[in-house]
Amino acid sequence: MQSLFFKIFLWFCVIVVLVGVSIETSSILANYYETRWQGVLHTIMPMEAEKCARMYETSGKQAVQNYLDDLQRQKSVRFYFFDEDGNPLLDRSAPEVVQKMALNKEGLNRIAQQNLSAVNPRQGIAMRLVPGPSGRKYNLAFQQSPTLIMPVSEAVGTHPYYRLLGIGLFGALLCFLLTRNITKPIVRLRSAASEIAAGRLKTRVAPSVRRRYDEIGALGRDFDLMAEQIEALVAAQRDLLGDVSHELRSPLARLIVALGLLRQASPEEAPEYLSRIGQEADRLDKLIGQLLTLTRIESGVESTQREKFDLTNLVQEVAADGDFEARAHAREVRVVSADACTMSGAPEILRSAIENVVRNAIRHTPAETAVELTLKQTDDPKKPGALLRVRDHGSGVPERLLSDIFVPFHRVEGGAAGNSQGAGLGLAIAERIVRMHNGSIRARNAPDGGLIVEMELPTSWA
Ligand SMILES: Nc1ncnc2c1ncn2[C@@H]1O[C@H](COP(=O)(O)OP(=O)(O)OP(=O)(O)O)[C@@H](O)[C@H]1O
Ligand SMILES: [Mg+2]
Repeated sequence: MQSLFFKIFLWFCVIVVLVGVSIETSSILANYYETRWQGVLHTIMPMEAEKCARMYETSGKQAVQNYLDDLQRQKSVRFYFFDEDGNPLLDRSAPEVVQKMALNKEGLNRIAQQNLSAVNPRQGIAMRLVPGPSGRKYNLAFQQSPTLIMPVSEAVGTHPYYRLLGIGLFGALLCFLLTRNITKPIVRLRSAASEIAAGRLKTRVAPSVRRRYDEIGALGRDFDLMAEQIEALVAAQRDLLGDVSHELRSPLARLIVALGLLRQASPEEAPEYLSRIGQEADRLDKLIGQLLTLTRIESGVESTQREKFDLTNLVQEVAADGDFEARAHAREVRVVSADACTMSGAPEILRSAIENVVRNAIRHTPAETAVELTLKQTDDPKKPGALLRVRDHGSGVPERLLSDIFVPFHRVEGGAAGNSQGAGLGLAIAERIVRMHNGSIRARNAPDGGLIVEMELPTSWA
């Protein structure tokens, strides 16, 4: 994965190298043109000027004109030839700037005394005043495009500060691109987060962010995953609320009907309706109690409720209580085998999870059969834990519904104990309690009939 760290690091190196290379190149180029220009001014110019002066005096104007035309073709620059006072000696008119410079006799003489050429780099003009064999002075001038003389220093500015400014601007442009590359997706992430915060849970991060191969891309993908889970969670809560209202309605409706009947009933009929009202009120009370347990477990257990306890003992206690209840209905609850297991967790909460499973088994196992409990220590040394198996001899659960029975309010229609009055919350509560202990719960049908519910519980609870 191309990480953001390396991206920033690489960009930084590239910018430093580019800026360094640009500074070096510009100064090398400036030096090169400077040297060439100086060469022209101090070696070629005096040589050519003296040659022209000699030629003018010995062979005449036409010879100089031909010679300069030739030179002009070779060098692609325009040459002019004046006398000391700035009068053109050839049949060609000079541009105004050249002419004006040639007229500055005093200045030209002063420079010539120092053995130098007069220059106007901005206009690309150079002039050299030299004496001819007769002692009269002549002025050879040429003009060329300034960029041919010093293209870099003219383009970036001759002053080193301008050059630095140009390079700085180039560096700033690269930094701007890098910064935008990093901040743009962050802004998108931020706007997606505010959308979610505003309740629009369908919002996802833009695909351009998700497709990135760096940390921001990973963050975008994780963000979408989180958004999906929040959306699913909210939908599940909404469904649960719907189910809760629906489940509360049936006993409430029956209670209202019984109350209505009670009002019109004769004193002899009253006890029947009163007992009905009591029954429905109990059912409502139990349902609300279970719902409260469910939400309390959902919101987590405080660490103060955690303790180290003897799981074997707990299983045996639940089995004994269940057996007492079962015997009244000609059934039995038996602990077939139990390894010695201690674990850390919330024992009272875990007790209600095991009780829920055992109660179901008692309800579904036929008369004269036994509910069997097995507690085993699991062998995995990396993940020490216990496996509790509760088995009955009832009709089991259709294969496709084996995982649905852990969903709140899910009851299997038409089972042998289909007329049970349960709310369908027992296993949902058990599942949450086991999950809270970092364990897992699953159900499967025994090959020779009956349901096996297995709870895997790690002995240490992180
Ligand atoms: N041992 C079992 N044998 C066959 N079916 C079972 C068994 N245990 C649970 N079920 C099925 O799974 C459904 C869900 O069980 P769960 O314990 O969640 O609810 P309940 O027993 O109906 O009601 P509650 O436990 O809230 O009083 C039950 O309604 C029943 O149809
Ligand atoms: Mg139950």
